[in-house]
Amino acid sequence: MTSRPGSGVATVRAELVASRVVGAYQHLTLLAPEVADLARPGQFVALAVGGPTSATLLRRCFSIHRVTPDAREGGSGSGTVELVVADAGPGSRWLTQVPVQGEVDLIGPLGKPFPLPTEAVGCVLVGGGYGSAPLFWLAELLRERGCGVEIVLGAASRDRLFGAPQTSDDERASHGVTVTTDDGSQGVKGWVSDVLPEVMARADAQVVYACGPMAMLRSVSELAAAHGAVAQVAVEEAMACGVGVCMTCVMPVRSSDGTTKMVRSCVEGPTFRGDRVRWDAFVDGHAVVPADAVGAPVAAGGGGH
Ligand SMILES: Cc1cc2nc3c(=O)[nH]c(=O)nc-3n(C[C@H](O)[C@H](O)[C@H](O)COP(=O)(O)OP(=O)(O)OC[C@H]3O[C@@H](n4cnc5c(N)ncnc54)[C@H](O)[C@@H]3O)c2cc1C
Ligand code: FES
Repeated sequence: MTSRPGSGVATVRAELVASRVVGAYQHLTLLAPEVADLARPGQFVALAVGGPTSATLLRRCFSIHRVTPDAREGGSGSGTVELVVADAGPGSRWLTQVPVQGEVDLIGPLGKPFPLPTEAVGCVLVGGGYGSAPLFWLAELLRERGCGVEIVLGAASRDRLFGAPQTSDDERASHGVTVTTDDGSQGVKGWVSDVLPEVMARADAQVVYACGPMAMLRSVSELAAAHGAVAQVAVEEAMACGVGVCMTCVMPVRSSDGTTKMVRSCVEGPTFRGDRVRWDAFVDGHAVVPADAVGAPVAAGGGGH
């Protein structure tokens, strides 16, 4: 293990201690006590993929599903970090196939965690697909602070839901969880945005936390604003380095002074206030630079260089 003192980030060769299929995903448990001790909900890790001789040089980023901090075990070196990985391409597929007791090179925790309310307020947590992975851990911390918590989970189909009740017993025990699927294979047929206004009203929501696809985050942010709640969203803008060096992950975000700046979602995010993100600047899920952003290129004849 290596870590820069005071940096709050560790680089570890983490042993995979468990790997199991959960619906369409692989749930990985990695032995990484240094990362487990530092991590908070909303943060992520960057994993090397493909093995030591791979030509796939860029790390792949994954939200931290939950941790078992080492301190709970008396500092015995048994702290773990859990991830939920969808097979989206070569890097994530490699990860889903790492054998138990194999090693993965991991940097984390990265990014800013979800801010927690200072008072006991109503909170709604919204997850799309594997985006629900960090929300259950967040829910535990919010409940410890006395917050009321309702959860909304959505996905295209039943197998792409993560954390939804699987059996009728689970369903009876899952008070406060609303499920939607696009195809109606579980829960309400439709999108999370169809049920969110009712859930926010029932929860008297003052904060709505969300993680999932950009289009979902946009509609959650708009619905939260209409309800008078603050949205806190975790974006999954494509990232290459994950540590603020490469600028791959820039996206337009409004500052408190009203100006729009292109910020790196890996270090300034991945969590942002939903009403600060310039959703109008996303085209097919990718951010373009708005003309009014600080430092935006000026069109020929527009007075720039
Ligand atoms: C902060 C953050 C948290 C994430 N959390 C999770 C998670 O918990 N579980 C999970 O399965 N995935 C998560 N992702 C997405 C994951 O990083 C990508 O799916 C993965 O990097 C794809 O790598 P690949 O080599 O398998 O596929 P590639 O060949 O690189 O890409 C395959 C497909 O995935 C798309 N893709 C690539 N990178 C991203 C990205 N960063 N975000 C969205 N789509 C992407 C590509 O456009 C392509 O369609 C997260 C991404 C970020 C930035
Ligand atoms: S991913 Fe490299 S700067 Fe954010």
